[in-house]
Amino acid sequence: MPEQLLARMTIPTLQARKAAGEKIVALTAYDYPTAEILDRLGVDLILVGDSVAMVVLGRDNTVSLTVDELLHHLKPVARAARKALVIADMPFLSFRLSPEDALRNAGRFIQEGGAGGVKIEGASPARLEVVRRFVEAEIPVLGHIGLTPQSILRQGQFKVQGGEAEEGARIVREAEALEEAGVFAIVLECIPLEVAAEITARLSIPTIGIGAGISCDGQILVFHDLVGCSRGYLPKFVRKYAEMDLLIGDAVAGYGDEVRSGNFPDDGHSYHLKPEALLRFRAVLKDRPACPAKTKP
Ligand code: KIV
Repeated sequence: MPEQLLARMTIPTLQARKAAGEKIVALTAYDYPTAEILDRLGVDLILVGDSVAMVVLGRDNTVSLTVDELLHHLKPVARAARKALVIADMPFLSFRLSPEDALRNAGRFIQEGGAGGVKIEGASPARLEVVRRFVEAEIPVLGHIGLTPQSILRQGQFKVQGGEAEEGARIVREAEALEEAGVFAIVLECIPLEVAAEITARLSIPTIGIGAGISCDGQILVFHDLVGCSRGYLPKFVRKYAEMDLLIGDAVAGYGDEVRSGNFPDDGHSYHLKPEALLRFRAVLKDRPACPAKTKP
């Protein structure tokens, strides 16, 4: 395979996509086989999102996820991804205690987890300080504004952000502040298309939208939403490209039916002793009758 096709996605290459007008394709992954498929199919950026808490671990929100839990999912993804840029989503408490603690946790995602950068939700002054610390320490940061799922306890529900003029303008200012602090790109989640378009036009770094319309420089979705195997409510911005829950349902039902009816496993899915070994096996056992308690009457 030509070297160029094997080259890993770098931050400068990703950023150059914006100037070239080439869209960035991003998805979440939380395990080796999924990351291997996404990587093979040319996904540019794989996010090991804290959405793993809801999508895979069955929790109601993302705030309980720990650094060790995220690391557990990050490692196999980083192992599988040979070309894609792998980003670790910093869990709720991992960057809120102090900038030093945040840096230590981000360092673990890079050193132990194999990530090529981290994502942080929000753009408060304290958050910008954390971003600056990371950038100074050479840790690439992906920003995330608009709907920030880690704000669920304060906000009470997941809903579109920036729907009013002032709020929309605030999100634009947050994006500009994040660019100034040094993030390499920004995720815009669940904001009106017009606000996302304004941000995308103003910034020189790429915007990656999820529920933020067509103008963003790239798009990201949660993998399980895309393939149709996530639980419960699906937001309006999700387009399902497959019905994997139906496929899995058919496979499991077929297996169950064949196990119950005695049609699985058949001869083709079984191992056999070679004829000579079978003769000897029977001969050995002839001298050792089955335990009476286990002999059928
Ligand atoms: O955790 C996640 O999956 C995310 C994406 C929705 C951007 O933050």
